Amino acid sequence: MTAAPTQTENLTIANLRVSIGGSAILRGVTLTIRPQTVFCLMGRNGVGKSTTLKALMGLLPADSGKINLEGTPLDRISSAERARLGLGYVPQGRDIFPHLTVEENLFIGLNARGQKRDSAQTDRIYTLFPIIKEFLHRKGGMLSGGQQQQLAIGRALLTRPKLLILDEPTEGIQPNIIDQIGDAIKMLRAEGEMSILLVEQYLDFCKELGDDYAILERGAVAASGKMSGLTEEIVKEFLTV
Ligand SMILES: Nc1ncnc2c1ncn2[C@@H]1O[C@H](COP(=O)(O)OP(=O)(O)OP(=O)(O)O)[C@@H](O)[C@H]1O
Ligand SMILES: [Mg+2]
Repeated sequence: MTAAPTQTENLTIANLRVSIGGSAILRGVTLTIRPQTVFCLMGRNGVGKSTTLKALMGLLPADSGKINLEGTPLDRISSAERARLGLGYVPQGRDIFPHLTVEENLFIGLNARGQKRDSAQTDRIYTLFPIIKEFLHRKGGMLSGGQQQQLAIGRALLTRPKLLILDEPTEGIQPNIIDQIGDAIKMLRAEGEMSILLVEQYLDFCKELGDDYAILERGAVAASGKMSGLTEEIVKEFLTV
């Protein structure tokens, strides 16, 4: 019997093209995320970061390109099926249901998939973000923006993704909660059960947490590599506003 080949990639995106209303938004995005790493997708406003994530999730149709999660092609399957196969997505602006309780918000992803609650997993979320446990019976809309972000991350984690996808988790959030989210990302990385795709404009947050990076410019990757190789010149050319 031959052993299964060791997976050297968590996610690959090859030549992803997306148009919206007839204009080309992604012009061939290519990137590779290694297992057990944090990958930062960066770039100025409007370059196509969120569009890349939406196409990855199957929420926007791609004109062409290939997406592979641990060797499984995702291109032809629905968004729900992609989530089931291991993509855990926290959209920009986080998407909490304001009139549902924190508890209902937390378990809605599991319920939608008919998955059972697992108390060890739930406790793990409460340890990562104690505020979720404390505010379990409040309405989601009563939480601060940062607390809602933690809730949205907790909800995605409960589905035990292979890739956790965060779209600008620090946007508009107070510094102490940014630190808590950073600590959670470090802990998840150390546990080594998933990779993390972090879309961010907060450069220091990326530098602190990221293993690899790619920078988008007008819908394509303009620079990429190890985070340790992200130079001042690259930052000036593609990130400074
Ligand atoms: N629904 C839409 N209709 C028309 N144009 C859109 C739509 N969604 C995105 N775009 C355009 O696509 C481009 C990329 O948008 P996208 O949201 O992916 O950028 P982004 O890099 O996530 O920016 P930000 O950092 O501001 O979130 C922008 O020029 C935007 O105006
Ligand atoms: Mg965006």
